[in-house]
Amino acid sequence: MRMYDLIMKKRNNAEHSKEEIRYIIDKFTKGEIPDYQMSAWLMSVYFNGMTKEETLELTNAMADSGDRLDLSKINGVKVDKHSTGGVGDKTTFIVAPILASLGIPMAKMSGRGLGHTGGTIDKLEAIEGFNVAISEEDFINNVNNIKLSLVGQTGNLAPADKKIYALRDVTATVDSLPLIASSIMSKKLAAGADVIVLDVKCGSGAFMKDEASAKELAKTMVEIGNGAGRKTYGIITDMNEPLGCKVGNALEVYEAVEVLKLKNLEDVDFGIKRLLEVSLTLASYMLMGAKKYASDETLSYEEARKICEEAITSGKALDKFAEFAAAQGGDSKMLYNPELLPKAKYIVPVYASKEGYVASCKTSEVGMVSLILGGGRETKESIIDLAVGIDIRKHIGDYVKTDEVFAYIHADDEAVIKEAEKRLLGAYEISDEKIEPEKIIKYVSE
Ligand code: URA
Repeated sequence: MRMYDLIMKKRNNAEHSKEEIRYIIDKFTKGEIPDYQMSAWLMSVYFNGMTKEETLELTNAMADSGDRLDLSKINGVKVDKHSTGGVGDKTTFIVAPILASLGIPMAKMSGRGLGHTGGTIDKLEAIEGFNVAISEEDFINNVNNIKLSLVGQTGNLAPADKKIYALRDVTATVDSLPLIASSIMSKKLAAGADVIVLDVKCGSGAFMKDEASAKELAKTMVEIGNGAGRKTYGIITDMNEPLGCKVGNALEVYEAVEVLKLKNLEDVDFGIKRLLEVSLTLASYMLMGAKKYASDETLSYEEARKICEEAITSGKALDKFAEFAAAQGGDSKMLYNPELLPKAKYIVPVYASKEGYVASCKTSEVGMVSLILGGGRETKESIIDLAVGIDIRKHIGDYVKTDEVFAYIHADDEAVIKEAEKRLLGAYEISDEKIEPEKIIKYVSE
């Protein structure tokens, strides 16, 4: 087999055999196919796509390219969630404690932020003392003892994806459906959970800008997961504005705690309502999946949702979050009193320059504002400021007056405030006509 012939085959829109896909992934992982040939092949995939069979084989080949996490020492059905990436997405801090408080184990590996999207691991480091790099033994023990542990991606999990993703990032081949699906699912399959719930973001802050392509991505990933024997759900959620009100590392932990402290789930601000809705939907499907996988017991969505809601209103999920943080060295006092989380030096109100309805948001631009403030990473080596970010007070569909606070900017460096303010306001469009916000949950694929 020669890589030249395989590039030509994909360029001519022909279908690869399983052996050909394995050859490409194995040889590239070992460094035996140069980047320029792999780039040409990736670009051919970008333009010509892949069949279902090819995408499945690509996923399995990447999952097999390194270690698979052995979760067999964890008792019970293991659940996992994955988001395709957005702005202000702190659902893991709500969903994971809900599930763990219900006795369902979650052993999760998460990433750091890069570019306009934040990373769960960075956000957790806002909790003083929290260790995201505990040993595999402690990781497994914590899941067995308290049902939850969360660590940074370690070891040799899907190394083929790591190499390919780095190449896609610099060759304009990220936003290809089979490449995204295989990249995400190879890591999920290697990470070992029995039940996988995928939060497929759709809109201006997501890879998938329109609902049709988000649906196709969700369906493809669900087929791969179910085909591999994992109960998989794909939930398409709106990312046409940040999720919730707060964007930034400590600010997002703060907002998750605000949700976990709720006693009444009805009477909440619009931003929190959307965050709560996504979190409860994901948690409910994880619970339904866990029951189905464990005992073929069918729990309706309404039943599962009620159980998840009670985990919040009873305070059990918040207690679980505090217990989990303490088990990884974190200061659990910060979770009962989030005022203790890192705070920025300057909290500056921002006002809209024009009165009217908030009509649209360039969501990734809001993520960029957080980056400018120092809350995100431009390169892998950047050191981030955990305290900074944005607290958005107005959402799509809201009426805004020029003397009402549109948002607060939390900054440590006075010099960047003006630019952050300008870019934040520039990300929003204000209109004379009332605009209805998009539905937050758009579709569920199972
Ligand atoms: N997230 C991933 O892990 N891979 C992709 O290709 C896109 C989003």
